[in-house]
Amino acid sequence: MIERGQRNWKLEDLDFGAIRKNLAAGDESLFYLLASASFVEILSELYTANLIEHYRGDADAARWLEETWVQEEVRHGQALKRYVNAVWPEFDWEMSFSRFSEEYGRLCSMENLEPSRALEMAARCVVETGTSTLYRCLYDYVEEPVLKQLLANIKADEVRHYAMFRRLFAEHNRTEGKGFISVLHVVWKRLIEIRGEDGHIAFKHAYLGRGNNPEHLDREWKKFRKGLRQLMARHYPFNMAVEMLLSFVPLAHPLKKRLGTFLVRAARLFVSSRVEFTS
Ligand SMILES: [Fe+2]
Ligand SMILES: [Fe+2]
Repeated sequence: MIERGQRNWKLEDLDFGAIRKNLAAGDESLFYLLASASFVEILSELYTANLIEHYRGDADAARWLEETWVQEEVRHGQALKRYVNAVWPEFDWEMSFSRFSEEYGRLCSMENLEPSRALEMAARCVVETGTSTLYRCLYDYVEEPVLKQLLANIKADEVRHYAMFRRLFAEHNRTEGKGFISVLHVVWKRLIEIRGEDGHIAFKHAYLGRGNNPEHLDREWKKFRKGLRQLMARHYPFNMAVEMLLSFVPLAHPLKKRLGTFLVRAARLFVSSRVEFTS
């Protein structure tokens, strides 16, 4: 059965008491993915102030960011935290999160935003593409029913966030007129960032929060990345990701279609070759 993502859902809508722990507790990769996601989502509040400041003068965008977007991102984090605490009660979430937020918070500053409002919206579209497709991938992977419903809800929110950022990008770009190269540059920069530092910091604090040996951190990080690539090769929605990324890039439709086909093939090939190479 495919669970449909609900709109305006609340934590109370999910029956955490009905979790079938035997379907999740032994899955190390799942623990690290969910714990890391809970950290990053809850901290969304930290960089909202920067974003709202950036959109001073666009009252509708600022209101949506403050009243809808950030509230939903934090709700994702709270729901994931509750799930992690229910399935892995031995994990000290509060302590790990406080160490994570201390380190991660230093990276979130005004300088990380794009100077152009249109391009910052393009960057947000990339981030929301990343979250929408990650939760879609996990939704496809997991078997535990409560988590499946939670992931369906979160994924549906992320897709709506993407749609709103895409609309705001189009509005701002009507006056700014940023072309293919500028937008592509932002997309590329953000894609590289998604692979980088945030994930490592979150993993580190989730790993150490379980009382694991710090000396084995690098080895375990590599093991986790390898497992993630295997999971992605089987479950990641490459078509959806490429479609979302190309949808807002200013490029003629026939070229977009050809580029899309090429990118889906290249991304699949890249992930599966890395799986083979490292397995
Ligand atoms: Fe989120
Ligand atoms: Fe989002």
